[in-house]
Amino acid sequence: MARTHYIAGNWKMNTSKAEAVALAKDLVEQLKGKTNKYMIGVPFVYLDAVAQVVKGSNIILAAQDCAATANGAHTGEVSTEMLKDIGVQCVILGHSERRHEIGESDELINKKVRRALNEGLEVDLCIGELLAEREAGEAEQVCAFQLSADLAGVTEEQMKRVTIAYEPVWAIGTGKTATPEDAEAIHKFIRGYIAKLYNQKVADEIIIQYGGSMKASNAPELLAQPDIDGGLIGGASLKAETFVPICVL
Ligand code: 13P
Repeated sequence: MARTHYIAGNWKMNTSKAEAVALAKDLVEQLKGKTNKYMIGVPFVYLDAVAQVVKGSNIILAAQDCAATANGAHTGEVSTEMLKDIGVQCVILGHSERRHEIGESDELINKKVRRALNEGLEVDLCIGELLAEREAGEAEQVCAFQLSADLAGVTEEQMKRVTIAYEPVWAIGTGKTATPEDAEAIHKFIRGYIAKLYNQKVADEIIIQYGGSMKASNAPELLAQPDIDGGLIGGASLKAETFVPICVL
C-alpha cells in the first residue's frame, strides 16, 4: 500500500533564535508546493517565533516534548494547552535521548501520548533498541514492549494522529545506519505488531519513519523499502541544503 512519505526534522537542542527563524524560512520557501508530509521539531523557546514563519505553509510545527498533565503547579513544564495556543500541531514523544538521558519511563511516555492525543495534537512516537539489546537479539521484543506500553489506552480513532519513528539508539548521531534490509525487517515487525494491537487497517495506514543518521545519500534506499514511510532526521535537518534533498525524494 502506498503511504505518503513523512519527512520530519528533529532539531533537538540546537540553533539560536535567528538560526531557527532563518532555517524555517528557507524550508517554507523550498518546500512550497512539494507533496510529501513535512514536520519540524523545534526547541520550546523558539516555537512561537517559528510558528509565525510556518503558518499557512505545508510544514507541521512540532514540540520535542510536552507535560503529561494540564496547566497547574508543575514548575518547568510546558503544557499541551500552551503548545496549541501558539500554533503547535504535533509533539515528538518517547525520544531515546529523553528515555536514556532524562530517564523517562514508558509509563510517563504513555501519559504524555494520551494527553497530547486527547488534546487534539498529532504524536510522533519514537521507539527503538539499544546496541546491547540488538546484539542480544532483543530488538523486536524491545519495540513490542515500548509500543504496547506507550500506546496503552490510545483508541483506534486516535491512531490516525500517531506516527511511529523507529530509531535504533546505536544509529543516532553515530553515522551508523541500519542497513535497508535490517531496517525493513523491524519496520515490518512493527507494522505487524500494530495489526495485533489494533487491526490490519490501522497497521496499513500508520506511517513508520526510520531515524538514525539518515541523510540524502542513504535515504533513497531506506525509503524504497515497503514498510519505511519516512524519516525522523536529526543532524541532517539542521540545514536546508541537507534536509530538503531528503524531503523531495
Ligand atoms: P541523527 O539523524 O542525528 O542520527 O538523529 C536521529 C534522531 O534522533 C532523530 O530524532
